Amino acid sequence: MFTLRPRVMLVIIAIMSMYVGICHSGVILITYFEAYAVFAPFQARCISAQTADRENNRWLVGTLSLRYENEVHVLQLGENSSELVCQGLYTHRDEIWDIAACPFNTSLFSTVYSRAGETGTAVWKIPESRGNKSVVLPVEVAASLSSVPQQWKCTLWWPSGQHPQVASIGTEKIVLWNVEFPQNMSQASAGGSNHLEVGSWDPHDFNNIATASEGSIQCWDLRTMSSSTKIDQAHVLQTRHIDFNPQKKHLIATAGDDSWIRIWDLRKPSSPLHNLLGHHHWTVRVKYNPKYEELILSSGTDAVVNLWRVIDGSLTKSPSGLPRGLEDSLLRSYTEHEDSVYGIAWSALDPWVFASVDYDGRVMVGSVPMSTRKKLKGKM
Ligand SMILES: *[C@@H]1O[C@H](CO)[C@@H](O)[C@H](O)[C@H]1NC(C)=O
Ligand SMILES: *[C@@H]1O[C@H](CO)[C@@H](O)[C@H](O)[C@H]1NC(C)=O
Ligand SMILES: *[C@@H]1O[C@H](CO)[C@@H](O)[C@H](O)[C@H]1NC(C)=O
Ligand SMILES: *[C@@H]1O[C@H](CO)[C@@H](O)[C@H](O)[C@H]1NC(C)=O
Repeated sequence: MFTLRPRVMLVIIAIMSMYVGICHSGVILITYFEAYAVFAPFQARCISAQTADRENNRWLVGTLSLRYENEVHVLQLGENSSELVCQGLYTHRDEIWDIAACPFNTSLFSTVYSRAGETGTAVWKIPESRGNKSVVLPVEVAASLSSVPQQWKCTLWWPSGQHPQVASIGTEKIVLWNVEFPQNMSQASAGGSNHLEVGSWDPHDFNNIATASEGSIQCWDLRTMSSSTKIDQAHVLQTRHIDFNPQKKHLIATAGDDSWIRIWDLRKPSSPLHNLLGHHHWTVRVKYNPKYEELILSSGTDAVVNLWRVIDGSLTKSPSGLPRGLEDSLLRSYTEHEDSVYGIAWSALDPWVFASVDYDGRVMVGSVPMSTRKKLKGKM
């Protein structure tokens, strides 16, 4: 597997020299603006926008390799949105299955990692560079949930402000714990037959977390650590991802192995508000734009990233009189990836920009088409 297109070689070389030669072994950098690839031995599944950085479009990417020591890359979109520059590279021994940047401190992030089939979850600190930039330093443990054996799936930061609580979702339990006092935790059991796959923290109600177990969705009240609302069959097959609408309460988007993306109002869990035929294979990620909630990004094992506009049919009648949902549209498919896309993340700084990573370790940055930006700005 070695792809290198001549036009791009210059770009890549330019980026490499900025790394001071240390990013050469890492993830492949591609942008939709400028494009393309270089060989890397690493696979990757996860990417997270560095929300605490209010000045740069930055993402953290974690690698997943059985053979090599793994890495965390800090990638930044260059000034003219034409290149991704590696601003930091750190080693992280184990395979990274989930990564989440701390929303209030650029030095911290969480991972779910795996080694020889055993998973763990921890909050890590990015080490301070000690002068010599060509020495790659390992990330340092800030807090670890090592006391609870579990098949971990993801760790979620408190949804707003500076708060030491995080929630870790494992197949059999949800653990709410304190990064400053990791031993201080409360747990909920998923219940015998449930196997939790993923979770999302409600940004409108900090006592509410939604989790997926097979095709169903379940909400949890963190005050009592007990389950509340349930959607019995959000998807026919495994539900892979859940995201809360950041602007409107009670709305969630879900993605599943049945290829569909569904939008739900948790107050009416019996039927979805919208059904979008997301991808040609499993739909594995769905993410609301942080500012324009009509914009939704999705990705799948068909190696495609899709950008959707979902007109809110739950509150207003569609102006053309069409039945609800028919006006939803696929704005654009980004087909430059060559392997399953398990990681997508909107920029925390610029709502028109997003990044995606495929299993081959390629990172791409894309942007919302100008025509859509105009329409959405006009509505605000
Ligand atoms: C950005 O674009 C402007 C205008 O096209 C150009 O003058 C400038 O050199 C570019 N900067 C970088 C860092 O490429
Ligand atoms: C971020 O976290 C690190 C490690 O806990 C700490 O040393 C640093 O002071 C924190 N920075 C801010 C701005 O809170
Ligand atoms: C930086 O580290 C590299 C690798 O250990 C070493 O070869 C190089 O001499 C060091 N440079 C400086 C300025 O210390
Ligand atoms: C542990 O959590 C409880 C309940 O949130 C709190 O009252 C207590 O002060 C915490 N202990 C520490 C050491 O943080």
